[in-house]
Amino acid sequence: KGTKEQLIIDAGQKHFGATMCKSCGMIYTPSSPEDELQHVQHHYRFLEGIKYTGWKKERVVAQFWDGKIVLVLPRDPSYAIRKVEDVQELVDNELGFHQVVPRCPNKTKTFLFISDEKKVVGCLIAEPIKQAFRVLSEPTGPGSPSSKECHRAWQCSDVPEPAVCGISRIWVFRLKRRKRIARRLVDTLRNCFMFGCFLKIDDIAFSDPTPDGKLFATKYCNT
Ligand code: ACO
Ligand code: ZN
Repeated sequence: KGTKEQLIIDAGQKHFGATMCKSCGMIYTPSSPEDELQHVQHHYRFLEGIKYTGWKKERVVAQFWDGKIVLVLPRDPSYAIRKVEDVQELVDNELGFHQVVPRCPNKTKTFLFISDEKKVVGCLIAEPIKQAFRVLSEPTGPGSPSSKECHRAWQCSDVPEPAVCGISRIWVFRLKRRKRIARRLVDTLRNCFMFGCFLKIDDIAFSDPTPDGKLFATKYCNT
């Protein structure tokens, strides 16, 4: 345990002087040329990726005081599909997903939260599923790995339960987190996934949740 703590402290010192860019949200050390270069490269690509110019035909499925949610379907015009692909690439980069091909691309529904500043600040990608495996509560007690070490290897039940809708990605721009954007995306998904019915919490499943995703899902599913 001692060595692990030491490692964390050392890493902290290396990042001494780190700042967060106020427009792209990247955390970097301006005094490090490498970091600075990485930031510049990320900065423009990211801001270009989340830029939303507005579409002639857009499917607005929810409207709020601070933005709106637009739904994109597989047969939409190519400009809409391209935007979804660009955003998904940024999201996958951040999540460390590499080339995960959606299981049924022709049934994928993508919800984009567009801020008043005309930026895509939230994204939810959902697909129909038939079953899911419940995440079991974390093992606790001496000898059990902490959630940090487990990364994504949450323990799952091996009993499949029926489900309707799988959330394969949920993401909110770092500078816009904790403003209930993810919550509003999931509420809107439940309202729009199947025509004429509001999905129950048990009908939805989060696939392979990250620690952030798990914290959000736990909170969302209990309220
Ligand atoms: N830590 C603790 N609680 C949290 C966190 C967190 N990081 N995020 C959300 N919650 C809980 C809170 O109780 C919050 O309510 P409160 O702010 O009133 O306390 C409640 O969930 C609702 O949160 P939102 O504001 O709706 O969530 P947000 O818009 O910040 O988005 C998200 C959450 C999407 C997980 C965001 O943190 C994110 O994009 N993280 C990085 C990407 C990621 O890991 N996505 C999940 C991948 S898993 C998958 O895609 C299936
Ligand atoms: Zn930046």
